Amino acid sequence: MTNTNIGKLHERLWGHGVRTPTPRQNFELLYWVAKGALRPPSGHFVELGTFRGFSAMIITQAIRDGGSETHLTTVDKYALDPEGEKRTRANFQVCGYGGGRINLHVGDDLEYIRSLPDESIKFLFVDSWHDYRHVESTLQLAFLKMMPTGIICGDDYLPQEMGVVRAVEGFRQKHSKSLAGFNVYFSFWWTMKKHKEWA
Ligand SMILES: C[S@@+](CC[C@H](N)C(=O)[O-])C[C@H]1O[C@@H](n2cnc3c(N)ncnc32)[C@H](O)[C@@H]1O
Repeated sequence: MTNTNIGKLHERLWGHGVRTPTPRQNFELLYWVAKGALRPPSGHFVELGTFRGFSAMIITQAIRDGGSETHLTTVDKYALDPEGEKRTRANFQVCGYGGGRINLHVGDDLEYIRSLPDESIKFLFVDSWHDYRHVESTLQLAFLKMMPTGIICGDDYLPQEMGVVRAVEGFRQKHSKSLAGFNVYFSFWWTMKKHKEWA
């Protein structure tokens, strides 16, 4: 099992022209939280909001370094971005993540989550449409789909993204007995769905 230097990986992806406004520290946490979610029982890894694939490659690197066979499904509908799918697939290839560990699903994130069996997701990164209603619906639906001990995390917990903050806080209150802990670092937040026996 190895630990990737995220600063160097960040530089390498930028060097390949994959750009992101998100601070490096968020990706550092994303990497470690994803790696932590590889502990048994194993399950599906899902990202909502792919854009150019930066965070998907960070999560995939955590899966690789953890020596796991798990796959990541990353979902984006590229509604306003007709070249989005092509450019993102090209990024995966050029950066060395084209080998099938990432399944890019082009479509609506809520529809995708709804199609999954209950309690099947071990790791969920929420980073698509930051509107309050959308994040709220995503989290409510996702709660059913998360495995016990599954990690739910997201980006943009920021004063200028009050939709995200309100939806995450509402979710925490509603499921306070079923969530183990809550943390925010820079603008990255994460929590865990408790095992039923802990509730
Ligand atoms: C903030 S970007 C994702 C950034 C990416 N996670 C990263 O850190 O590299 C948000 C993405 O969500 C996508 N998106 C917005 N609404 C969506 C929806 N309802 N279903 C699927 N994707 C959506 C947008 O097309 C956009 O590419």
